[in-house]
Amino acid sequence: MQEQRESQSVAELNKNMTKLVDNLLKPDQTYEESQRLYTEWADAGSYDTMLNSRQKVYAGPYDVRDACLQLLSEPEKALVLDLGSGSGIIAQMLAEKGFKHFHGLDPCKELIEISRKKGIYEKLFEQYIGNGSVVDAIDDTYDAVISNGAFCPGHIPCDALHEIIRVIKPGGYFINTIRKEFLTIVPEYKDRLEPLMNQLVEEGKWKKIVWKTYSNHFNEKDGILMAFQVC
Ligand SMILES: C[S@@+](CC[C@H](N)C(=O)[O-])C[C@H]1O[C@@H](n2cnc3c(N)ncnc32)[C@H](O)[C@@H]1O
Repeated sequence: MQEQRESQSVAELNKNMTKLVDNLLKPDQTYEESQRLYTEWADAGSYDTMLNSRQKVYAGPYDVRDACLQLLSEPEKALVLDLGSGSGIIAQMLAEKGFKHFHGLDPCKELIEISRKKGIYEKLFEQYIGNGSVVDAIDDTYDAVISNGAFCPGHIPCDALHEIIRVIKPGGYFINTIRKEFLTIVPEYKDRLEPLMNQLVEEGKWKKIVWKTYSNHFNEKDGILMAFQVC
């Protein structure tokens, strides 16, 4: 009986989460509207309950975590910038695996406050990246910039890649996931994001280390896990 009730509530949670995320991630979503929805979600107190530890429906954070573990040889020394850090899910997962030094960046004040309470981040930047916005860090600061689910409609724009490269140390990594279809259906990214990433390879700014399609980035949608090593 107890088990049946639990699986019913998980099914209900999945249904609610799918509806909410589908609304949040419409291809023509605006930045303002997506921020309003994140604020509502954070205020409702259900962001972590819905997203945390749910590998079968939300594999992205696990793929980012595993790539960090594979690529960064000294987890306890690495300084990691979590872009679009949300409530801090990925830093929490990495901290469990021995990573110790995190900075987080997210424009949503309410999500930043949730992550602050977890006490994992040494610094939190309440700001947007992209459209020329500058991160308060000197060049070559981070061993890795990581991001899960923050390249979405109305989220991080393409030009942020230049700022991302600026703050990564030579030899450091940009590790990111994106819903695969966003590369072709989101106007900001269509024929722009992947070509810019490749152009930066041709310009010798970084090397492409990983480009892998995986399932259940979110629910049944495929994702792409990518990792670039800065030159
Ligand atoms: C789907 S959530 C993912 C949060 C977290 N990385 C996770 O895996 O749970 C996307 C996050 O990106 C943030 N975001 C949106 N636009 C952004 C931008 N231009 N720069 C940085 N973060 C942004 C949102 O506020 C939100 O917290």
